[in-house]
Amino acid sequence: MQNQSPKHSGSTLIISNRLPVKIERKKGKLKFTASEGGLATGLGSFYKDNGSWWLGWPGIIPKTAAEEEQIREELKKRNLIPIFLNQHEINYFYEGFSNAILWPLCHYRPSYVELKPEYWTYYASVNQKFADLAKPYITEQTTVWVHDYQLMVLPGLIRQESSPRSIGYFHHIPFPPAELFRMLPWRQQLLQGLTQADLIGFHTYENAQNFSETCQSILHAEVHQQQLKMDGRSCHVDVFPMGIDYEKYKHQAISEASQGYCQELKALYPGQKLILSVDRLDYSKGVIQRLEAYELLLKQHPELIGKVNLYMLIVPSRDQVNQYKKLRNEIDRKVGNINAMHSIPGWQPVSYFYKSLPFDRLSAAYCAADVCFINSLFDGMNLVAKEYVASKQYQSGVLVLSEFAGASKELADALLINPYAIQETCDTLYQALQMSEEEKAERMLANQQVVEKFNVFHWVNLFMLRLQEIYEANHQEIAR
Ligand code: G6P
Repeated sequence: MQNQSPKHSGSTLIISNRLPVKIERKKGKLKFTASEGGLATGLGSFYKDNGSWWLGWPGIIPKTAAEEEQIREELKKRNLIPIFLNQHEINYFYEGFSNAILWPLCHYRPSYVELKPEYWTYYASVNQKFADLAKPYITEQTTVWVHDYQLMVLPGLIRQESSPRSIGYFHHIPFPPAELFRMLPWRQQLLQGLTQADLIGFHTYENAQNFSETCQSILHAEVHQQQLKMDGRSCHVDVFPMGIDYEKYKHQAISEASQGYCQELKALYPGQKLILSVDRLDYSKGVIQRLEAYELLLKQHPELIGKVNLYMLIVPSRDQVNQYKKLRNEIDRKVGNINAMHSIPGWQPVSYFYKSLPFDRLSAAYCAADVCFINSLFDGMNLVAKEYVASKQYQSGVLVLSEFAGASKELADALLINPYAIQETCDTLYQALQMSEEEKAERMLANQQVVEKFNVFHWVNLFMLRLQEIYEANHQEIAR
């Protein structure tokens, strides 16, 4: 049953801000690469089915009408529908409302929120643009699944203009407490649009709870079990922790290519234990706190000098948004300081890379890492934690995981940390470096069982089945 779609007649329309494809211009030609992302893998069996589609932004501005047409045609072959955003829309909808208002607010950073009215105008109009493009693909048999905070008002717009079988929405990032959400001048419109979905999913119980309480407080919704009732309509709220494609990570990790790269990587750091971190450039990831805890480790345990390395991979992201530009400079400075203060001839404490790695190299880094250090200050789920666990087939390792990442609710055998407590984090890192092989194996195995069972296919099936149940229950009610 693992990779099969639950039974429901009709097609599925997936809508997310980004399409699961990367388009680059190379030597004047367009290069299309399928995304390795978890969402793309999990939903692959849906949108590639006949009559099913995925609508989203291809992340590129076409230079000419002919190029636009070429992209459209190429994507059509993959059941993808592009929505093209112009520079203003990118600046105000994507970088503005989505990533300078909703993202910081949902990650508990109200001081980073830039409440510019023009951001809202564009957020509303781009969501409308998505609804208009979606319309021809929606029949009464279509299940629409909208993803993430960039499209919070889309369920309402779809409901107004089309009559799908069901609308689901998944919020991939944290949902803040009502006291924080209240500060948005557009709080009512956002919640009214969102609650037009039949089912709203979150990674954790805490996020679902925050959302329900916010709807109670702002929309005066009545909450009964997992159902919200307001203005004569209702929607369901539930928890679906997202997983990864366990088998894919496992097989890559034991492949000759990844094992080979892993040995090469280890050979670059002879006699050293590797502490790995992998994340997008983001202030929610706790990069500065990570560097502080690591520096403290070097100060308090000078015997580790020359014997440990923080291998830090930061994937470039949203670099036109103010707070991201600042953070990048701050990280450069902090890494520079640590390396300047603690290096000895032939050894440097931090290896910092600002780029993304191809899948086989990333897998090799997971294999080689003695410790995976995830200290997010707030994180919806954090799939890196699960990817590391799935990759630990031949080599041993320890997962040090923030209790503020959704994944910590499932991976109880990781070493959990409060990322704001620098001394505690430093002590836990030390504990991870000293852990016996026996304890490492025991903890890893327990975590692997969880990641294997609750994989991304399980996640998709569960969400779709719940949506189906809600549809059937609503129909029985109407028939009565
Ligand atoms: C997070 C969000 C996604 C988003 C991704 C990459 O995981 O939950 O919705 O697509 O980051 O961010 P970007 O801004 O590059 O799309």
